[in-house]
Amino acid sequence: MKMESSNGKAGSIEQLLSTVERSIAKGLVPAAIYSNAEIFELEMERIFSRTWLYLGHESEIPHPGDYVVRNLGAESFILVRGSDGESRALVNVCRHHGTALCNGERGNATSFRCPYHGWTYSNNGELLSPTAAEGYDAYGGTLDKSAWGLLQAPKISRYRGLIFVALSDEAPSLDDYLGISKWYLDILSNKCDGGVEAVGPPQRWVINANWKLPADNFVGDIFHFGNVHLSVGESGLLGQGPAGLPTGANVWTEQGHGVWFSRRGIPEGGDGLSMRSYPDSLRASINRRLSAQQLATLAWSLYYGGNVFPNLGYFDTMLPDLEGALTPCVTLRLWVPLDFAHTEVCSWFMVDRDAPEEFKRRSYHSYMRCFGAAGALEQDDVEVWCRVTRAAKGVLARKMQLNFTLGLGAPGVEQDFPGPGPATISNLERAENNQRNFYRRWLEYLRNET
Ligand code: FES
Ligand SMILES: [Fe+2]
Repeated sequence: MKMESSNGKAGSIEQLLSTVERSIAKGLVPAAIYSNAEIFELEMERIFSRTWLYLGHESEIPHPGDYVVRNLGAESFILVRGSDGESRALVNVCRHHGTALCNGERGNATSFRCPYHGWTYSNNGELLSPTAAEGYDAYGGTLDKSAWGLLQAPKISRYRGLIFVALSDEAPSLDDYLGISKWYLDILSNKCDGGVEAVGPPQRWVINANWKLPADNFVGDIFHFGNVHLSVGESGLLGQGPAGLPTGANVWTEQGHGVWFSRRGIPEGGDGLSMRSYPDSLRASINRRLSAQQLATLAWSLYYGGNVFPNLGYFDTMLPDLEGALTPCVTLRLWVPLDFAHTEVCSWFMVDRDAPEEFKRRSYHSYMRCFGAAGALEQDDVEVWCRVTRAAKGVLARKMQLNFTLGLGAPGVEQDFPGPGPATISNLERAENNQRNFYRRWLEYLRNET
């Protein structure tokens, strides 16, 4: 399969993928994968149409009729709680002539009426009427309405309130797909009986960066903390310096997911769990709901985050609120690919539903200060992701092999780490195992034609 590259030069996707295959084992990644339009198309076809994709959270649509519109690349879904109480991912395309049905970002509706000819669907997805005019049926009763309801995502499944869809019937069960990631997601989402809730709509913004760069960053890049975010730390915005144990753990999974833990900020002999300023009621439920190993994992670190392959990032950390007091906060991130050089970021503030309002308010401020669209840490990261994407378009740069060798050959499993899965502990807190694993899995999908 010879294809024209995005840069107008004759190229071969197979050749590029073969280069990636040879490179990955040596910890190298060709820069061209960030700037090649055909690679992007292949990613849409062989990754995003096969994996589970995060769509939203149950708490975003608590009442019958509540809906949010979510775009996943070219796909658009209305994630809606029907009048029957069931949450569904309706394909946001009218069955008549294919108009995008719902333009609003969120709301509450008993039905959706197409702006073109007026076909009207219930919030359960059924076709109610093939015309907007009440009492008038343009089809004279001949249209089988039961056959013309809105399409739905081939698969929809939930884990701890997180709603995922798959665009293919062939996708494995969500349970199998997430694997040991569930154990780690539980630490984030299962601290209280009510679980976590998404507060408000996600902030959304478009970055001039390839979608793999934020995914790669969240899946395991602890290395960048001490450099790109150095000035934020020095400014005092993070509330404390880099003191503490310079140790971190990277955990990766067969499916391409990864989670990392940093001991930064924990003094020798300290305990990351007791350092987390949870209110007493939340601390009591954390102790009750999490397993001893999960509590030990929280105690082992002060910051952790990860990425569920391909494009759901998360971060559960301690950051200063408006008064400068370090406060736990959680964010979920969706990296929505638009084209090879543009990605829409959806950023949710998540908080334990049963936590006191005062804690929720402080936690929100911590999130906004560091991770909102104008967050101090956010700005740093986006700038470098855009720079990588821009640079990778260069004739010389796209021939470059980028270096992901950090930690290559380091011991695969650290017995002292309390969580499951292969983990590498680095006393420099830095290793690129998770990123190598992410690109390994990425390549497997791209090479698999069936
Ligand atoms: S395209 Fe929707 S009613 Fe015609
Ligand atoms: Fe960062």
